[in-house]
Amino acid sequence: MLVRLEEIHTYYGKSHILQGVSLEVGKGEIVGLLGRNGVGKTTTLNTVMGWIKPRSGRLIFKDTDYTSFPSHKIARMGIGYVPQGRHLFPKMTVLENLKTGMLYTAGDDGLDRVFDLFPNLKERLDQKAGSLSGGEQQAVAISRAILKDPDILLLDEPTTGLMPLFVNSLLEIVRRLNEQGMTILLVEEKVPFVLSLSHRIYFMVKGRVEYECRKEDLVGREDIFVKYLGVHP
Ligand SMILES: Nc1ncnc2c1ncn2[C@@H]1O[C@H](COP(=O)(O)OP(=O)(O)O)[C@@H](O)[C@H]1O
Ligand SMILES: [Mg+2]
Repeated sequence: MLVRLEEIHTYYGKSHILQGVSLEVGKGEIVGLLGRNGVGKTTTLNTVMGWIKPRSGRLIFKDTDYTSFPSHKIARMGIGYVPQGRHLFPKMTVLENLKTGMLYTAGDDGLDRVFDLFPNLKERLDQKAGSLSGGEQQAVAISRAILKDPDILLLDEPTTGLMPLFVNSLLEIVRRLNEQGMTILLVEEKVPFVLSLSHRIYFMVKGRVEYECRKEDLVGREDIFVKYLGVHP
């Protein structure tokens, strides 16, 4: 097991947001985390990254309990994060944005890997990140995370604001990354996107994981989507 959350309870002030979240992601897996708006998916990822400290529960990475580690140490130990909304520096160039991902790594060879996944970025290096299309900005955000050479990538709503064409190419890119060995924890509202990529899926309801299954188990189980998401897939 690469990452495991054990009975995580997280608060914002007095609001009890995560109410005993347990889940795990194995090496090489794509795991989807589904749930309605506001159930705590982003809070879960922020907790995995150490951006928010859980009040109780344990966070495990490669058999190490890292619950008390500071977030900069967590980022260095091999967990990459592409947050909701991408968090790029819009007035900095693409290359400058990418370089913020290269602080801890040895050299420039990571860039070849990025250009292999996103060939178009090569011509955009001197452009301001804020001037790019949504799809290109997502490419920069993913590239920046990959450049830190993580063992696992957390993706939060990566298709938000993307045109359908870009959604499809993002799907192929995530699949390729996984085929190259990247483990992925994917939070995403677009159910078909999650279904086509994930090996396993967790359904969250109000701060808890209510259901867990393999993708194959969902064939013909429309009732599960209705029950946990309130939608027909
Ligand atoms: N910074 C914050 N301060 C207080 N409450 C927050 C904050 N961020 C999120 N919340 C609340 O926590 C709950 C879970 O939010 P979030 O994890 O963003 O849900 P999701 O990603 O599943 O839509 C929501 O009720 C939201 O209003
Ligand atoms: Mg969210």
